[in-house]
Order: sequence, then C-alpha cells, then structure tokens
Amino acid sequence: MPHDSVMERPYVCPLTHSLLRPDDQALRSSAGDTVYPVRSGIPQFQRFGAAEDDAGRARLARLNALARSEGWEAALRSVWRDDPGMLAYVLQPGRAAFLDLLPLTPHTDVLEIGPGLGQFTALFAQRARSVSALEVVSGQAEFVAQRCAQQGRDNVRVAAGGDDCRLPYPDASFDLVVLNLVFEWCASRCPDEPELEVQRRLLGEMARVLRPGGSLYLATKNRFALKYLIGKADEHSHQMRFGNALPRSLWRWLLRRRGQARPGGLLHSHDALQALIEQAGFTDLRSFWAAPEMRFARDYVSTDAAAVRAARRQPGFVQGEGRSARWLMQCVPAPLVKHLTPGLAFLAKKLA
Ligand SMILES: C[S@@+](CC[C@H](N)C(=O)[O-])C[C@H]1O[C@@H](n2cnc3c(N)ncnc32)[C@H](O)[C@@H]1O
Repeated sequence: MPHDSVMERPYVCPLTHSLLRPDDQALRSSAGDTVYPVRSGIPQFQRFGAAEDDAGRARLARLNALARSEGWEAALRSVWRDDPGMLAYVLQPGRAAFLDLLPLTPHTDVLEIGPGLGQFTALFAQRARSVSALEVVSGQAEFVAQRCAQQGRDNVRVAAGGDDCRLPYPDASFDLVVLNLVFEWCASRCPDEPELEVQRRLLGEMARVLRPGGSLYLATKNRFALKYLIGKADEHSHQMRFGNALPRSLWRWLLRRRGQARPGGLLHSHDALQALIEQAGFTDLRSFWAAPEMRFARDYVSTDAAAVRAARRQPGFVQGEGRSARWLMQCVPAPLVKHLTPGLAFLAKKLA
C-alpha cells in the first residue's frame, strides 16, 4: 500500500461504527444522520466538548500559530521556555527507548492513542507503513499533524477524540496499538461512568481495531510503585500521599473528603493490569521494568527474575527515581520487582 493511502482510509462513527465519508468540512455517515466536523484538517470526534480550559486552548492556539510561522520545534521552545521539564518531555529523544521493544516494520499500520505533542509520532512513522494518531486535546492533535508534516512524514493522519474511550476506526485495521502513559488518565474526561468501566472499554476497543495477531503496547504507572508505598504524593490522586496505593474504599472516601468526586487517574497493580488486558482478548503478555522511571526510562528490562538479575549487574543501571525508592528497590528480591516498579509496560498480542 502506498504511503499516501493512509489519508484515504475511512473513519467510522465511534458509537455506531458506520462508515464516514468526507463531505465539505465534515465527515458524514451515508445515511447522513451522523456528522463530525473537520477543523484545520483534523476530524473532531470528542463527545464531551473541549478537553482543555480557556488558558490551555489559548496556549495551544499560540503554539500552532508559531509552528506555522517558525517551525514546530521553535514553537515548542518558545511556548514552554520557562518549563525545562516539559521541554525535555516533548523533545528528549531518549524517551523513545521503548520503540525498540515494538514489532515495527515497513508493513506495520500503527495506532497511537494520546500522542501528546507528537513526541513519538514521527518516529513511529519513520519505521512503520502508516500511523493514525488519536489525541483528545484538539489543539495538541493539530500540533502533532504539523510536527509530522514538517518532518516530511506523509504517512500520518491525526484525529481529535477518544474522550469516551471509543475509537473512530473500523474493526481489524491496525497491526500495533500504542498507549504510552495514557491508560491511567483515559477515563478522566468521561465523567458519568466508573473509571474502571471506561478503561475496560478502551481495552476492548483496542482489541477490536487490531488485526488478529496484532500487538498492543500499553505502558502506565504502577499502583504499588515504591514511591507511593512510602507515602509520596500521587499526582493521579490530586497529590494525596499514598494515593492509589491505599485500599480503594479508603482512597475514595479521602478523595470525597477533599471535595474530589473523581481521582484524576486510576492505577493498577501488575497482576490486576495483566488480568484486565487478558480479559479484553489479549494473550502472550510480556511485561517490562522501565528504569529508572516510566516517563524518562533509559532501560526496559523484562520482568522475569533472570533478566532483572542480569540488569542489576550492569554498571550504571539505575533502579529507581528518588533516593529512597532507589535504595529500597535494590533490596527487593528479583521475582518481586515487577510488583513495585514505578511503571508497568506490557506487550501483548490480540488472540488470532
Ligand atoms: C501523559 S500524556 C502522554 C503523551 C505521550 N503518549 C507520551 O508518552 O509522552 C497523555 C496524553 O494522552 C491524552 N489522552 C488522555 N486521555 C485520552 C483519551 N481518552 N483519548 C485520547 N487521548 C487521551 C492526553 O491529552 C495527553 O496528551
């Protein structure tokens, strides 16, 4: 299939899965009863309206305008010039180390959910046949498209949506789905349903759009990361100490006492996440320890005990972020490491 054909692939209505056709500045079902707008070339599938607040929207508008006039990288450096952490997050090539785990070939059709500001999208496109990216924040989706186009990647198409964790793609249309640091947040914009139900739906949707035998890469934070167990603040629980690591009913009660109806992000243990992925129709699961931590991982080590021991023997191998977690991690027996890592990274296959 030639590269440019990714642009011609159909989207479907995320609710009914009926095929959508381009029609003026919109995508429309053949019966004409379903219409999704297309803005700045980006189809808009959000169900609950804008995902960002006014200030966020204004900043992204400035980012996109600057990207058009100065180029995508200069735009990022200008808009976040006072935030080196954010710049590292969206620019640092080392963050892409996990790409080496993935079955990426020139024949692979990739779906990336939650690309952020496109930190990996063009890299996938370089190694794959096509990349479809779905980002819930519309201004970010626009930036991802600009970033890829300016890097000469003509095999990328970007859509905005996913807030209800339904996907606008036909069944069996991808070989690889990538969900890097999104699963924990994915239910946060779907306010009327329990977070776990929404996460289960996303897993089911990813299985639906994968071809039989296709692969899922899912990386998220670990509910029982050492840093939470020793009482550090949990950013997924409005900075509550221990946060997700608390027993669920106590955690919900404490959140309510702080006036929070929802946690922000829902984390799982290694075994609970494994079970969720398997229940959604995946098999052949392999998990990895992203060290020293998930957002800026340098090493991805298989979590089987022999691989953990071998990694620990490597000079310069860093076992965790923060002094206490790093010190404690080296005392954890190798077979238990997977339960206490900062993040959980799984590769799985859709049942053939
Ligand atoms: C923490 S960032 C991770 C970005 C990128 N994947 C990375 O690893 O650097 C999470 C991204 O996922 C997006 N996101 C969150 N929930 C989503 C959903 N349900 N559907 C699509 N995108 C979502 C957010 O807007 C954000 O851009």
